[in-house]
Amino acid sequence: MAARAPGARRVRIAPSVLSADFARLADEIAMCERGGADWIHVDVMDGQFVPNLTFGAKVIETLRRLTALPLDVHLMVVEPEKYLDAFASAGASTLTIHAEATSHLHRHLTRIRELGCLAGVALNPASSLATVEHAIDEIDVLLVMTVNPGFGGQAFIPHSVDKVRAARLLLDGAGSRALLEVDGGIGHESIARVHAAGADTFVAGQAIFGAPEPAAAIAALRQRCLPTV
Ligand code: DX5
Ligand code: ZN
Repeated sequence: MAARAPGARRVRIAPSVLSADFARLADEIAMCERGGADWIHVDVMDGQFVPNLTFGAKVIETLRRLTALPLDVHLMVVEPEKYLDAFASAGASTLTIHAEATSHLHRHLTRIRELGCLAGVALNPASSLATVEHAIDEIDVLLVMTVNPGFGGQAFIPHSVDKVRAARLLLDGAGSRALLEVDGGIGHESIARVHAAGADTFVAGQAIFGAPEPAAAIAALRQRCLPTV
């Protein structure tokens, strides 16, 4: 394996199955594996936290049977604590809850780790990084939303680049080894910018599943992440 420059971070690409063709789910997951995906991103929406409905634990179970890749489960739901045990049992690897969806972030992050999953916190575009500052030691993945959550295929919010940069400073300043993930509107242009700003984990839906050659799109996105040091 090639030596990594000091300070260079491993890039993870996480295709979002929200944009997959569910009539061919097994093929779509096999394509992600062939393309070198690192994680499979699964968007759980409850119609309350966001104006859309998607998957429950049963779909996580199905995905778990289809792949050994880590399942990166993004919970866009109110009262996420109600579902942590079920999703962990179904095979989630990471459970990411929204800071805006709970008053007890620290407690729920602790519970996610007890369940053996990586503990993630997501922030909507308008939410301040200060919300997570006092829970930083409990965070394995910090997810900065680069669109307003709810739908695939939305345009990247350009101002997010500054927020990613600030998030990188926050994590490094706290000595945190948490992954810094971005989600929404990630494509060939935006990925280079958020990577340069310090993100290391990239969710992409349309840019992969909407591409003429989805497996090649995964590699192409990765190539846009040039070493920053
Ligand atoms: C949006 C979801 C995303 C979505 C990303 O609410 O959290 O994971 O699937 O899709 P694209 O990459 O198409 O913006
Ligand atoms: Zn997501």
